[in-house]
Amino acid sequence: MKPIEYIESKHEENLNELKEFLRIPSVSAKSEHKTDIERAAWWVSEKLRAAGIDNVDIVPTKMHPLVYGESLHAPGKPTILFYGHYDVQPAEPLDLWTTPAFEPTVRNGNLFGRGTADDKGQVHIHLKAIEALQNTLGKLPINLKVIIEGEEEIGSVSLWDFVRQNRARLKSDALVVSDTSMLARGVPSITYGLRGLNYYQIEITGPAQDLHSGVFGGAVPNPITILSETIAKLHDRDFRVTVPGFYDDVATLSRDERKALKALPWKEKEFRKTVGAPALCGEKGYSIVEQLWSRPTLELNGIWGGYTGEGAKTVIPSKAHAKLSTRLVPNQDPAKIAKQVERYILKLLPKTVKGKFEVLSTGKPWVAPYSHPIFQKALHALEAGFGKKAVFIREGGSIPFVTQMYDTFKVPCVLMGFGLPDENAHAPDEHIALENYFGGIKSVALFYEQLATL
Ligand code: BES
Ligand code: MN
Ligand code: MN
Repeated sequence: MKPIEYIESKHEENLNELKEFLRIPSVSAKSEHKTDIERAAWWVSEKLRAAGIDNVDIVPTKMHPLVYGESLHAPGKPTILFYGHYDVQPAEPLDLWTTPAFEPTVRNGNLFGRGTADDKGQVHIHLKAIEALQNTLGKLPINLKVIIEGEEEIGSVSLWDFVRQNRARLKSDALVVSDTSMLARGVPSITYGLRGLNYYQIEITGPAQDLHSGVFGGAVPNPITILSETIAKLHDRDFRVTVPGFYDDVATLSRDERKALKALPWKEKEFRKTVGAPALCGEKGYSIVEQLWSRPTLELNGIWGGYTGEGAKTVIPSKAHAKLSTRLVPNQDPAKIAKQVERYILKLLPKTVKGKFEVLSTGKPWVAPYSHPIFQKALHALEAGFGKKAVFIREGGSIPFVTQMYDTFKVPCVLMGFGLPDENAHAPDEHIALENYFGGIKSVALFYEQLATL
């Protein structure tokens, strides 16, 4: 049997097995899910073994275990490192899910559930492609190293140590990742750029304790008002970030790249529909695609303080908080940007309050050429697996491991994503289109098979 026939004969079986994976609530952000995280790592290790990968290890780390395995039985053939993550984002708010987050359900050709697109569904695509090659060819046509981690959604903190301690072991000719999206339905895509991410938290303290707003209001600073005023100053009318120096190192797009991005089959109407806001706003002078993929941003991710419960409570809070982040593009330096943001925000605060600024994580942007012959193999595999023309895109999200691997080993990184921008990653009703899940398995199997002749 050919790998593709094998894959077609396994549709139902594969889908049911993916559902099993999705039922494990491996939420990395919450300590109450520690045992679920361990179960998910174990599940992945079992499936890797079943797919013919040997030396599968569950590697403990300071936080969540990662799964590592390899199959090195193709002397003289390329060695590929495949990376993915088995952890998922929290499912809250639970009441906004049509069917429960950890009870995967098929509706209208989509599989719904937390982790379907990001990233369990995409990891499973590779597991099943590897299994198909192993079971039809008798062995893998290339050398494969696999690393599936459990901390991607919280910044891949422990992964750094593992990479540093296993440099030789991780050496490979290319990195392959499926944790991104296709440009649109029917447009298989290879991502050659991601933005970096810095994450911050601020705390503003006014009065030494909460105060009765009738007794004290009018004479004392209100930290929520001051936080809001401060936040309102971080952008100007053209939606540019006002932090001094923020744009200093930003690389401008070449004319060729601007042209290439403009030529992509990207539909503004679909984007507007996905967003669902009354109108869009973005940095003046750039197309939406440029704003999303090639421009840095500063976003507020959360703001809290004072009384937010039921009914009224007349209080001037002692403290107000916000979580914010900056998406970074070449050639911005995360450490430099963090300093600039901190300095500016603290400078904006009036003398009536004290400010505390914390940097929770930093991460570099990644953009790389796609001239290496492996990208042509990837393009062909996607086109064969989907029967559609494939394109090269950049994206606005961040994957810390990709940047790190590229910086450490300077190997080509092939990001073949099988999600879609409107599949609600990180949100209620996350889903993956079954056509992309099944097309993905075929494409990846073809890709790994064709890499034998790289
Ligand atoms: N899979 C995403 C990254 C992504 C999303 C890439 C969309 C391209 C398009 C990943 O799981 C993720 O959510 N990353 C985080 C960063 C991380 C450090 C928490 C992100 O981008 O916010
Ligand atoms: Mn992901
Ligand atoms: Mn994610």
